[in-house]
Amino acid sequence: MRIAIIGVGRLGSVFARVFTRGHELLLVDRDFENAREVASELGALPVKDLAQVKTCDLVVIAVKPAHVEEVVKQVRDAPLIVSCAAGITIRMLESFGAQRVIRVMPNICAEVGEAVIAYALHPEVEKKEKVFLTAFSSLGLCIKTDESHLDTITATSGSGPAFVAYFAQAMIDEAVKGGLARETAEKCVAQTFLGTGKLMLSGWSAEKVVSTVASPDGTTEAGLRMLKEKGADKAIHEAIRFAESRTREMGKKG
Ligand SMILES: NC(=O)c1ccc[n+]([C@@H]2O[C@H](COP(=O)([O-])OP(=O)(O)OC[C@H]3O[C@@H](n4cnc5c(N)ncnc54)[C@H](OP(=O)(O)O)[C@@H]3O)[C@@H](O)[C@H]2O)c1
Repeated sequence: MRIAIIGVGRLGSVFARVFTRGHELLLVDRDFENAREVASELGALPVKDLAQVKTCDLVVIAVKPAHVEEVVKQVRDAPLIVSCAAGITIRMLESFGAQRVIRVMPNICAEVGEAVIAYALHPEVEKKEKVFLTAFSSLGLCIKTDESHLDTITATSGSGPAFVAYFAQAMIDEAVKGGLARETAEKCVAQTFLGTGKLMLSGWSAEKVVSTVASPDGTTEAGLRMLKEKGADKAIHEAIRFAESRTREMGKKG
C-alpha cells in the first residue's frame, strides 16, 4: 500500500517506523529537513508538495489539532484520510472539505505494536475499512467505536501511557530510594505493568487483580489503604476528567 504521513513529530515518526515495514511510505513535515532525515533513516520518500500525496491509498494526518484544517484543505481529494488529532470531529473534517475520513485516537505504544487504536468512520468510507485495518492493525489493537466516545478514549488510552508512566516513575523512584539499582527497579515495574495488562486482557477484571493480590492484613492491603487515604482514586478520576475536557476544548478551537 502507498501511505503518506503528514506531520513527522512524536506520533508521526512512530507510525513511520512501523509503516515502513511492508508499505511504500511518503513523509511530509512543515520542516522538510526533519521529513528528509526520518525518511532517509527508514528508506521512505520525503515530500515537499502536498499535491503528491493525494494519490496515496491512505493519508495519515498527525499534526496538532490547530494545523489540521490547513492540511485537510490541501489533501481533501485523497482516497482515504485518517486524522489522529485530538478533539477534531468528523463533522469538522467534513467542514474542511474531506469526506473520505476516519477519525482515530491512537497511542504511543504503536512503537512496539501494542497501541490502542480507537476509530470512527465517516459513512462514506465504510467500504474502505479493510484498507485502514490492513495498515493500522500493525500498530496494535484496533477498536471500532461510536465517535461520541472518542474524547473519553483520548483521555483514557490516548493520554493513558503518560498517566501509567507517571505512576510507574513514582514506583521506580521509591524502589531506588529503598536501595534497588534504577535499572532493576525499571525492569520490575515495567514487567509488573505488562503482566497486569496481560492478566486483564486474559479476562481478569481490575477488581479481581486487586482482591487477589491484597490478602487481608498483608503488605498490599497496607499500601492500598495509604493510596485511598491520600486520595489517589479521586486524583485519577479528576485527571481523566480534566484530560477529557481539554480534548473537547481543543475540538472547539480547531
Ligand atoms: N503524541 C501522542 O502520544 C498522541 C496520541 C494520540 C493522538 N495524538 C495526536 O496526534 C497529533 C500529533 O501529535 P504529536 O504529539 O505527534 O505532535 P508533534 O510532535 O507536534 O508533531 C506534529 C508535527 O507536524 C508538523 N506540522 C505542523 N503543521 C504542519 C503542516 N501544515 N504540514 C506538515 N507538517 C506539519 C509539526 O511541525 P512543527 O513542529 O514545525 O509545527 C510537527 O513536526 C495531534 O493532533 C495529537 O492530538 C498524539
